[in-house]
Amino acid sequence: MKKIWQFGILAMLGFTFLLTGCGSNNKVENNTLKVATCADFAPFEFQGKDGQYEGFDIDIIKAIGKEMGEKVEISNLGFDALVPALQTGHVDAVIAGMSMNGERDKAVTFSKPYYQSGLTIMVNANNNSIHSFKDLEGKTIAVQIGTTGATEAKKIPGAKVKELNSSADTFIELKAHNVQAVVNDKPVNAYYMVESGDKSIKRVGGQLTSENYAIAVKKGNTELVEKINKALEKIKADGTYAKIYKKWFGVEPSAEN
Ligand code: ARG
Repeated sequence: MKKIWQFGILAMLGFTFLLTGCGSNNKVENNTLKVATCADFAPFEFQGKDGQYEGFDIDIIKAIGKEMGEKVEISNLGFDALVPALQTGHVDAVIAGMSMNGERDKAVTFSKPYYQSGLTIMVNANNNSIHSFKDLEGKTIAVQIGTTGATEAKKIPGAKVKELNSSADTFIELKAHNVQAVVNDKPVNAYYMVESGDKSIKRVGGQLTSENYAIAVKKGNTELVEKINKALEKIKADGTYAKIYKKWFGVEPSAEN
């Protein structure tokens, strides 16, 4: 009787071992590209009515994942938590309208660019004193924390910069007249104006910077970045990129994109 018990326990242990062994070598796990974004940035990434992630970046990363034969699993983080999530290995890649720039280049490895952008200003509709970046001197400006908009706004002489968690919060602050301007990415400002039909705020001035969005991976993960670049090249060549671009921007991509 004792023997049977012992055998039973051993068999159970062995079975558990087998199961966990399978778990760590799990196919789905291995074939899943873990991607983080900051879903407050329509039309690039946002949450739809049912909470699902949508947008240009989401479609692009899904198309890239498909090319790579990987399932894409998306998690939503604060913009300033994205680079740390790569560094600690919590995710494999970040797609978040993230501009490639010198500072970030030191912390992550970027793919080839996939979208050309830049910063513009938003003010209240009744504001007649701010027409350009020069006019922002000494003004209060809302930006999203950790963004290129924050970096550029801080360079403006005498400006008081309010760094907020989400890009949506910057518009709320502006509409509440708690700040005089918002500095944010041009396509996001443009999309907001069209989609919201909001007449209480307006865009002014030209574009301050020229920035390229790229997908980020952990610094030095050349194997993954090469796969992503190859997939990106493929979806550009086979028309998938142009189809996604047209879906979100209503026009064909220009030569730079
Ligand atoms: N392009 C800007 C940057 O890289 C802003 C990106 C903000 N993205 C977002 N998903 N909220 O700093």
